[in-house]
Amino acid sequence: YLIPNFQNPTGITMPLERRKEIYAIASKYDLFIYEDDPYGEIRFAGEYIPTFKSFDTENRVLYAGSYSKTLSAGLRVGFLFGPAKVIEAIQALKNNTAGQMPLVTQKVVANVLDTIDYDAHLENVRKVYKTKCEALLNAFNKYASSKVKLTQPTGGMFAWMTMPIEVNCDEFFEACMDRNVGIIKCGAFAADGAGEGHAFRLSYTVPTVEEITKGMEILGALTKEFCGE
Ligand SMILES: Cc1ncc(COP(=O)(O)O)c(C=O)c1O
Repeated sequence: YLIPNFQNPTGITMPLERRKEIYAIASKYDLFIYEDDPYGEIRFAGEYIPTFKSFDTENRVLYAGSYSKTLSAGLRVGFLFGPAKVIEAIQALKNNTAGQMPLVTQKVVANVLDTIDYDAHLENVRKVYKTKCEALLNAFNKYASSKVKLTQPTGGMFAWMTMPIEVNCDEFFEACMDRNVGIIKCGAFAADGAGEGHAFRLSYTVPTVEEITKGMEILGALTKEFCGE
């Protein structure tokens, strides 16, 4: 299971060489790859990197796309592209357990795709998130402690902030919450749900540029309080 583009939660992207290496390993040991790519269309910087599916000569990749990140949050309508026998098995299992996806939301998506220029819409989504991401990075550079590291997203919805090891991240999190700045502890994404870790996921999607700048000013001041200049 891989999220090669603008991964959730870190926002980072897997380089082509690594994709090729992983594909070669999958090929050698006859493994199947589930390529989860709901953020791939939201690239706003850097070069496009080919998907696993695009060089899948052995039909061992199941590619999952989504409209939840590009048309509307909460839609939960996406698609699978891959070996028919795998998709048929998933379909049978899903129909026998959770029933089918609600038809209403599927019809909404089908109708929207039939009536709008999806590529032009994506351009707009990229533009909006690029502006918001830049606001977040600029404010971080201006206000945050030099001891704290932040990734430079080239797409998607998230940046990943890593704190020095000596900082009490639970206390830092509470201080952010007290000032109405919402960030997510890395432990929330750990498989065991209780990872320690010294990082946070920051999202730049919902708040306005003004809110992002204000939030990052508050967060930046807190990083200096907890980590020093
Ligand atoms: C990596 C990843 N895959 C899948 C999803 C969910 O996609 P969908 O809304 O199509 O179920 C999310 C987030 O909601 C996600 O971060």
